[in-house]
Amino acid sequence: MHIVFAASECVPFSKTGGLADVVGALPRALVAAGHQVTVYLPRYRQTLLKDARTVVKSVTVPFDDRYRFCSIVSGGERSGVSFYFVEYPLFFDRDALYGTSAGDYPDNAERFALFSRAVLEASKILGVPQIFHCHDWQSALVPVLLRTQYAEDPAFRDVATVFTIHNMGYQGLFPPDTLPLLTLPWDLFTISKMEFFGNVNFLKGALVFSDFVTTVSKKYSQEIQTTEFGFGLEGVLRARSSTVTGILNGVDYDEWSPETDKFIDARYSPQDLSGKAECKQDLLASFGIIKADLRLPVIGIVSRFAAQKGFDLIAQIMDRLAREEMIIVALGSGDKTYEEIFLRLSKQFPQKIAVKVAYDNAIAHKIEAGSDMFLMPSKYEPCGLNQIYSLKYGTVPIVRATGGLDDTIEHWDSRTGKGTGFKFTDYNGEALLLTIKEALRAFRDQNSWQQLMRNGMTKDFSWNASAKEYVRVYERVRQGRGASTEVRPTSGNANLALV
Ligand code: ADP
Ligand code: GLC
Repeated sequence: MHIVFAASECVPFSKTGGLADVVGALPRALVAAGHQVTVYLPRYRQTLLKDARTVVKSVTVPFDDRYRFCSIVSGGERSGVSFYFVEYPLFFDRDALYGTSAGDYPDNAERFALFSRAVLEASKILGVPQIFHCHDWQSALVPVLLRTQYAEDPAFRDVATVFTIHNMGYQGLFPPDTLPLLTLPWDLFTISKMEFFGNVNFLKGALVFSDFVTTVSKKYSQEIQTTEFGFGLEGVLRARSSTVTGILNGVDYDEWSPETDKFIDARYSPQDLSGKAECKQDLLASFGIIKADLRLPVIGIVSRFAAQKGFDLIAQIMDRLAREEMIIVALGSGDKTYEEIFLRLSKQFPQKIAVKVAYDNAIAHKIEAGSDMFLMPSKYEPCGLNQIYSLKYGTVPIVRATGGLDDTIEHWDSRTGKGTGFKFTDYNGEALLLTIKEALRAFRDQNSWQQLMRNGMTKDFSWNASAKEYVRVYERVRQGRGASTEVRPTSGNANLALV
C-alpha cells in the first residue's frame, strides 16, 4: 500500500510535542512492514535539510482575492520513507511553528489550508496514494477537500482517508469568513459539517469527512466520546463511533533507550543499572545542584507547559511536598502562566525544585536517564510519550489515570512485585500528594524498587504492534471505498524534477 502522511511536525525536521515523534517513527514501521510511505510537512525555519531539491516548482493555491504559489522540496529518503516539504517562506519561515507567547499566528487558517491544498496537488504529480493519513487540525482540510471540492477528481476516485486525533484540545477554530477566504463553499457552514458555535472548526471537518478516525490510546478513544473530554465534539464522535478507534502510540527505541542514548553520561540496561547513578549526578550538575546526596530521590518533569498537563496541582501541594526528602527537576516551556508558576516555586523552594524554562532535547534525555521518578499529573492525556520513555529508562512514572497514561502504567503492588508505576485518579492536589508520598516510601526499599524499575524497563512499546493495527484500519477503509485488495502501482516518479 502507498500511504501519504500529511502532518505539521515530524522529527528530526520540526517539533513542538509528541506528534513529531509519532510522525517520525510510524512511517518507518510501516515501511518495515512492506508499505510505501510518503510524508508531507511544511518547511519551517527550524527545518534543516541537507540536500534539498525542488521537485515541483509551482503549486497554485487559490485564496479569495489571489493565487499563492508554493513549491515542493524533496528532503530525500530516510529509512525508506520519502519526505516532501511545502515551501512557502511567507507562511512558514518564522520563529515558531504555530505562534509565539503573544498567541497563535493570526493567519494559521491560511497557512495550513495552503499546506493541505498543496499536499493534494503535489501528490497528483509525485504519486497518488491509496490512503491519506492526516494528523490533527493542521492537516484536517485534506479529507474535507477530498470529499467536497475534489470529489469529482478522477485522480482521487479510490483514495481513502484516515484521520488521527492527537489532541482534542486544539481544533483550529476560525471565524466564518475564513470559508470564503480559503475559497471553501458556504455549505460547509452547517452544524452537520464544519460549523461549531458560530465558528469554522477544522478538526470537526476531519471528523465528519474522514473514512476512519483514530486516536492515540484506547482509553482516550472512549473518553473523547464524553462531555468531559470531547471539547464539544463528543456528539460528532459518538455519531460515528463504529469508525473511531484507539491505537496506542509506540516508541522509537533508536532514539529513546538508556542502552544507546548519546545524550546521557553513561549507558545502562536492566541487567546492569550502575550507569544510572552517573546519569543522576550529571543531571543534577546540569541543573546547578552540585553537592546533593545521591540517595535523595529525584523526580523529573519534561513537558509542554499547558493547562492539559496538570501542573496547577503541583502549585497546590508544593509547600507540603517540600517537607519530603526529594528534589524535583523540571524542563518545560509554553504557556507563560505555567512558566511563571514553576519559576516562582523554584525561588520559593530553591533546595527542592530546580527549573529550566526551555525546549532542549538533550536535557530531556538527561532527565529521563538521571531521575528516579517521572511526574505526569495530566488533566487529560491522549497518549503521552514521556511516561513510556521513562519506563525504558527505569525512571518510575507517577501519573494521573487518564487516557494513554492509564493504558500504559500499572500501579505497583509491592506484595506481588507487579506493576510499573504509581497512578492517581481524582484530579486534585491531595490525591497527587498521597501518590507521590507512596512512591517516595517505596523508593526507600531499594531491592523492591529495582524490581519495579526492571518491570518497566523490560516492557515493549515499540511500534510494530501499533503499525499492524494501522494497517488493518487502512485495509478496512480501502475495502470500504470499493478498492480491490491488489496493490496498485503508484504514479510516483523519482525522476521527476520539474525545475
Ligand atoms: P505532548 O505531545 O502533549 O507534548 P507527549 O508526552 O506525547 O506530550 O510528547 C512530548 C514530547 O515532546 C516528548 O518527546 C518530550 O520529550 C518532548 N518535550 C516536551 N517538552 C520539551 C522540552 N521543554 N524540551 C525538550 N523536549 C520536550
Ligand atoms: C498530543 C498529546 C499526547 C500524545 C501526542 C502524540 O500532543 O497531547 O498525549 O502522546 O500528541 O500522539
